[in-house]
Amino acid sequence: MRMSIALRKEDSRPVLVTGGCGFIGCNIVSALAARGTRVLVIDNLSRAGVQENAHWLKARHGERVDIRTADIRDAEAVTDAVARVSAVLHLAGQVAVTSSLESPTQDFEVNARGTLNVLEAVRLANPGAPVIFASTNKVYGRLFTDADIVRAGERYAPADARFAPGLSEATALDFYSPYGCSKGTADQYVHDYARVFGLRTVVLRMSCIYGNRQFGTEDQGWLAHFLLQAIRGAPITLYGDGLQVRDALHVSDAVAAWIGALDRIDDVAGRVFNLGGGPDNSLSLLEFLDLIAELRGSAPTIRFDRWRPGDQPWYVSDISAVSRALDWRPRVSPREGVRLLDRWLESRFGGAADVLQRDEMHA
Ligand SMILES: NC(=O)c1ccc[n+]([C@@H]2O[C@H](COP(=O)([O-])OP(=O)(O)OC[C@H]3O[C@@H](n4cnc5c(N)ncnc54)[C@H](O)[C@@H]3O)[C@@H](O)[C@H]2O)c1
Repeated sequence: MRMSIALRKEDSRPVLVTGGCGFIGCNIVSALAARGTRVLVIDNLSRAGVQENAHWLKARHGERVDIRTADIRDAEAVTDAVARVSAVLHLAGQVAVTSSLESPTQDFEVNARGTLNVLEAVRLANPGAPVIFASTNKVYGRLFTDADIVRAGERYAPADARFAPGLSEATALDFYSPYGCSKGTADQYVHDYARVFGLRTVVLRMSCIYGNRQFGTEDQGWLAHFLLQAIRGAPITLYGDGLQVRDALHVSDAVAAWIGALDRIDDVAGRVFNLGGGPDNSLSLLEFLDLIAELRGSAPTIRFDRWRPGDQPWYVSDISAVSRALDWRPRVSPREGVRLLDRWLESRFGGAADVLQRDEMHA
């Protein structure tokens, strides 16, 4: 496997991470800085809690991480940042299906227009820079009708056993919900700019990423949200019946794939990959609640509500393409990853230890 040595060893310009104060973004920024790479972050800090991630990054990495408050809808600010970097990791976005239903125009402006701003800035100001984009499994739509799905214990499974290895990148696109449409539009632009303009782009269609520094809410980041509700002793609402299945990927594994794609850009430019935990790391919502009960010694209180639009009854990524291309595989099991996340959430939100965490952050 050829490594892009030039990018790592000789290019002293920083790597740009849009949305670098967000959950996945700050974990990527921290990993890059830890290996000596300078990082430029642009983030409008609109996600609740991410200001803390900014403090955490500065406390850990100081001058190596330059954080600028900017909006990806501001084409001038984006171009200014893109012009001075060696590569662009584009994660800034409107991240919730629910918010996209409330404000489709804003969702479009941030996810579709904002991504076009990034691509145009690269095309016009820095065409050699690799671009890696945070896409989503939502570009595949709902995927299964009720008739295509069977119940197997506490989870759904596809009736057709050919889906057992997960959904591959050849799955038909079927944007569903404004969020699915805006991310799908961006996904296709990023892919097409490789074909039409020769940009060195990679699309990573991520499923359920979870881990430390995730400020999960009911709208996005369900795994962290469920755990946090359990820590607070508050009820958890399951939209649907809880049998829906996701493949969970710990953020440290996601970060390894992002950095792997950057390091191997000469091999993977122009490609699209599904990035998730795969069949071995899949779990239903009810199974996750069982895991929480086991971990915390008591079952959380749950209540049920109606399915949300476009919710997939079963989504598991086929990760064979990304595994082969990047010589990568998930290393952290949901059991271990959830234990780590529980510890972090407990230290951050669980009482006295919260104070310690904040002191440490500002040290
Ligand atoms: N977390 C997941 O499981 C998952 C799955 C699939 C795709 N994704 C995608 O990955 C990316 C990162 O997700 P995350 O979970 O870290 O979310 P996050 O909300 O923690 O991070 C997104 C960051 O983007 C910033 N941002 C939002 N709008 C912006 C704007 N207009 N200009 C500049 N910055 C802006 C936010 O302040 C935040 O820091 C998103 O694009 C999301 O759609 C995430």
